[in-house]
Formats: sequence, C-alpha cells, structure tokens
Amino acid sequence: MPKYIAVAGKGGTGKTTFASLIIKYLIQNKMGTVLAVDADPNANLSEVLGMEVKTTISELLEQTKDPKSVPVGMSKEVFIEYKLQQSLVESKKLDLLVMGNPQGAGCYCYPNDLLRKYLERLSNGYDYVVVDNEAGLEHISRKTIPHVDWLFVISDASARGIRSAGRVHELVRSLGSAVKEELLIVTKTKTESLVNLADEITATGIELIGDVPYDESIATFDEEGKALFDLPDNNVAVNAAKEILIKAGI
Ligand SMILES: Nc1ncnc2c1ncn2[C@@H]1O[C@H](COP(=O)(O)OP(=O)(O)OP(=O)(O)O)[C@@H](O)[C@H]1O
Ligand SMILES: [Mg+2]
Repeated sequence: MPKYIAVAGKGGTGKTTFASLIIKYLIQNKMGTVLAVDADPNANLSEVLGMEVKTTISELLEQTKDPKSVPVGMSKEVFIEYKLQQSLVESKKLDLLVMGNPQGAGCYCYPNDLLRKYLERLSNGYDYVVVDNEAGLEHISRKTIPHVDWLFVISDASARGIRSAGRVHELVRSLGSAVKEELLIVTKTKTESLVNLADEITATGIELIGDVPYDESIATFDEEGKALFDLPDNNVAVNAAKEILIKAGI
C-alpha cells in the first residue's frame, strides 16, 4: 500500500508550493514512485510541477453523464473506467491526476464510487501518493482518498492563516481515524514570525513541525511561470522542506 501525504489549508498559504517541495524531496532522494493528486478545485499543481494537463477527472465524468455518450455494446461502468484511465498524466519523474471542480448539485454517488475504486487500484502501483487539498478536505471526507498518513496543515505567517489552520484541525477531528498524523507548517516566515505567532499556534491544537521561510526565488520562479521543481538544491525553502520531512519520518 502506498504512503499518503497530503497538504491542506486556507487559500494562498503555500499548499501547492509545499506539495511540490515534498515531491521534489521524494524524487531526489529516490524514495520510490510518486503519484501526485491535485484535489484542489483551483488546480495549479501541474504548473509548479511543469506538467501539462489536458482533462480533469470531473470533466471526464461529466462526459459520461449523458446516457447517449455510452458506446453501443459497452456497459456504463466499463465506459466510466475507460474515461478515468484517460485522466492520468505520465512523466519520467512522476504521474499526476487532477480532480477538477466538484460536481454540481444532485447525487453523483455512482461515478464517485467508481472513482474511489479506480484511485485505490491506481494508487497501489506507487510508493507515495501526494495530495494537494483544499481547506474543506472534500475528497478525504467523501473517501475518494481513503486515508492520509501525514497531513500537513499549511498556514502563512499571519494570525488569520493560523486561525484558519485551527479550523482545518476541527474538521480533521471530525474525520476520525482517516488522518493518522497531523502537523502544522508555517510558510513565508520572517525572522520573528514564529515568536510573534506563538500563542495563536498553540491555540490551534496542532503540533508545529517547522516553517518554510519567505524565499525570494520562489516568488521569482512564480512570476516567471517556472516549475518549482527546478529550484536549486541549496535553496532555503527546499532545505526547510527537507528538514521538515525528515523530522516527520518521511
Ligand atoms: N516560502 C515561500 N516564499 C515566498 N513565496 C512563497 C512561499 N511559499 C509560497 N509562496 C508564494 O505564495 C503564493 C501562494 O502559494 P501557493 O500557490 O503555493 O499557495 P496555495 O495555498 O496552493 O494557494 P491556492 O489556495 O491558490 O491554491 C504564490 O505566489 C507562491 O509563490
Ligand atoms: Mg494551490
């Protein structure tokens, strides 16, 4: 079974950046095969990984909604599975799945069930599955992602960000045993950030595992649309992420 690592937190806090630093760490240290899952409806993990995505899982499932779309002689189940297989983006370093926007109103239980089974089968072929989540943890609560071994709750260096991490913690508690280990990371920190935020951090109830300092080259890479994968090994954020992951036992 693969190890599941996920990030979650408020918008703009640095989730996707940290997810890409996790992936960079796993690949550079030859820890095994990696499947990246972009489970944030506002998907952009592919961009920081430098991978091109043609269709999302939601778009593909949408195409199977119309009964007339199912080819003659094919069952709907086989058709949906066939469509799901088209969603995997493969590269030399890792593979990527993009969930896309959540489906609209109405019950979508049947394709979701198939998606859950498909993801489980697919995930079993990898050593690590790294999931970029939105704050609502929808895919974990709907069990399309069965469980998480390490959940990194990401906050930026602001009181509002940390309070929002506390709300993610409440949600995680309501998920019971689906999340094995939950750790807090503060990103974009400056020298005094952790001292200034100490009380807010304690109030979240989540163990702080470390921080990723504000790093000018991440901002520059982002401005220029460059893949964060190509950040140099001596980069401050790359090293901070490495330290955190080793400390977490990954
Ligand atoms: N350590 C860092 N140093 C400097 N800038 C950073 C750092 N981490 C993230 N950023 C910048 O912060 C912004 C938000 O980062 P990112 O996209 O990773 O956040 P997110 O939580 O995934 O956002 P969204 O909710 O929009 O998906 C980006 O412009 C990114 O370049
Ligand atoms: Mg993001």
